[in-house]
Amino acid sequence: MADFIGAVDQGTTSTRFMIFDHGGNEVAKHQLEHEQILPRSGWVEHDPVEIWERTNSVMQNALRNGGLSGTDLAAIGITNQRETTVVWDPRTGRPYYNAIVWQDTRTDAIAAHLERSGRGDVIRRKAGLPPATYFSGGKIQWILENVDGVREAAEQGHAVFGNTDCWVLWNLTGGPDGGIHATDVTNASRTMLMDLETLDWDDELLGFFGIPRSMLPTINPSSHREAYGTTRTSRPLRAAVPITGVLGDQHAATVGQVCFSPGEAKNTYGTGNFLVLNTGTELVRSQHGLLTTVAYQLGDSPPVYALEGSIAVTGSAVQWLRDQMKIIKTAAESEELARTVEDNGGMYFVPAFSGLFAPYWRSDARGAIVGLARYNDNAHLARATLEAICYQSRDVVEAMEQDSSVHLDVLRVDGGVTANDLCMQIQADVLGVPVSRPVVAETTALGAAYAAGLATGFWRDTDELRTHWSESRRWEPQWSEEKRAEGYAGWKMAVERTLDWVKVPES
Ligand SMILES: Nc1ncnc2c1ncn2[C@@H]1O[C@H](COP(=O)(O)OP(=O)(O)OP(=O)(O)O)[C@@H](O)[C@H]1O
Ligand SMILES: [Mg+2]
Repeated sequence: MADFIGAVDQGTTSTRFMIFDHGGNEVAKHQLEHEQILPRSGWVEHDPVEIWERTNSVMQNALRNGGLSGTDLAAIGITNQRETTVVWDPRTGRPYYNAIVWQDTRTDAIAAHLERSGRGDVIRRKAGLPPATYFSGGKIQWILENVDGVREAAEQGHAVFGNTDCWVLWNLTGGPDGGIHATDVTNASRTMLMDLETLDWDDELLGFFGIPRSMLPTINPSSHREAYGTTRTSRPLRAAVPITGVLGDQHAATVGQVCFSPGEAKNTYGTGNFLVLNTGTELVRSQHGLLTTVAYQLGDSPPVYALEGSIAVTGSAVQWLRDQMKIIKTAAESEELARTVEDNGGMYFVPAFSGLFAPYWRSDARGAIVGLARYNDNAHLARATLEAICYQSRDVVEAMEQDSSVHLDVLRVDGGVTANDLCMQIQADVLGVPVSRPVVAETTALGAAYAAGLATGFWRDTDELRTHWSESRRWEPQWSEEKRAEGYAGWKMAVERTLDWVKVPES
């Protein structure tokens, strides 16, 4: 009997395969990191071949850990780091270039040119996004313009684009031997190439980037019985398992947190932070620096939209303390170290490594540590790093409340950083609202499994999924209003200091 649903979570730092039962409980998992390739300042790449190999390994190892085989899986879902861009030759499966990761800022001149030429407003209106280095469109353009032979190959149908969902799907379904070249509406909504209303690639937007339509995958609902095919028996599961759910990681986490009603929101703390607010079938256009995006689309139902506050650097600032500053040995030590001091000692750290994303969208910003006195030490830096995660989240919560008139009475959280008890306490203090974490913290993989299982009838409907959610931990605010206001005012001043730091080249 196929009693389980599997989910591939192809993330920025690692790839996981997780297996869930009918109750949404984790049965088995395996996870492997891949290399972060940093060829120069501002550039971030991954090797797509390594990602595919890691995907194979984690699928096989998770099955082995659970004592299961591919035939025990009723269906699988795929979720992924969004925007990260792979261009490959469908005849061979060979990538033309490394994957250009969402954090990569090499396309700053492309983004600035879009704004200067007045195309920014068209992109905002049609795609719901501000022109920024973050999204896939500029990254595809960069590959077409900078990698020898790709433009010609694309014109002949020998170069195709996908985010990593699409790359993994194509490989799982046969690769050069009939692999399916498709994606879902949520991933497509992060390219600057899809019209949010028609849910199709838009010729005017494609024209801005000089991208031939033939490079692009078919866009499907996030949960669908047939659209994504089945795994080839020659591939890692060694079974023909239907792939029935595909959605970007933050959209999957929204589903995994069962934010199915308008006004429900979640905040995921991973490499970056992503606050997503369900706005229902209504398209809300942000006036305060948030993105409009497709939350998910289940089968033939209309798409559900969301407002999103994306923050580029949160958990990765903790990794930076570990790997570059070398003041901690593990991410968890950030908590121990920060606990040795009462407060930030006047110090603020704005980790604007990729410029600032929401709600500022300033690619000219770079990181800064300000307010230093002779008194400050490593522990203050650790504390300031955790506070930066929380203050950045407050920035997007404020923008969300202004855009939507939804007032949060509790913030639902998940992701790796939520293991940090101090950080979550600071989050409650900085926001002045309680913070709540569910039992299953791996909401990204869970959401992909939910999308897959809904398509096949493994789960009946979203109401059934709601019954799976339960709270494991809650943090209540403890700061006075005065302390909260003072702390936030200091943060705003620190952000000011990071702006207008680098000159964006003219293209
Ligand atoms: N105890 C901790 N305190 C602070 N940060 C932590 C802690 N444990 C993990 N992290 C941070 O959490 C992040 C990993 O979280 P998670 O596994 O949810 O990431 P992710 O965003 O899903 O990864 P990916 O981007 O690969 O999908 C890392 O950046 C790490 O620094
Ligand atoms: Mg993730």
